[in-house]
Amino acid sequence: MADTAPLIAAAIAARNSAYAPYSNFQVGAAVRGESGAIYAGCNVENAAYPEGLCAEASAISAMVMAGERRLTGIAVAGGGEGLCTPCGGCRQKIREFAADSAPVLICGPEGLRQEFTLGALLPQAFGPDNLS
Ligand code: THU
Repeated sequence: MADTAPLIAAAIAARNSAYAPYSNFQVGAAVRGESGAIYAGCNVENAAYPEGLCAEASAISAMVMAGERRLTGIAVAGGGEGLCTPCGGCRQKIREFAADSAPVLICGPEGLRQEFTLGALLPQAFGPDNLS
């Protein structure tokens, strides 16, 4: 993907907006729409724990709200030592709008940690084509 730096920077910046008083695990995400525009989101937790929203879902919502229907890449920024890879549900949410080849850039506050493709994270996925 061309010029990943702004996407990564947007995910890291979005992390600062996270509302995560229960887990204290702040996450930011940014997707690049087909137009080239970048949409960011953060995790938004809830006292009724399962009602919380992941950062990836939040960024995808912003993209759809802006009228875009395809994303060409996503960056996710978490904390701690490990890789903040998208949860299973978010992998499926990304799949709705992205090709198997779409890059998934896993970051920490300091920058990129590891790059995957969506297909590597969600092989043999069920997607919109299955219903056409
Ligand atoms: N979380 C995300 O927002 N994205 C991920 O990729 C992993 C986990 C959030 C959900 C919850 O608010 C917190 O991180 C701890 O699981």
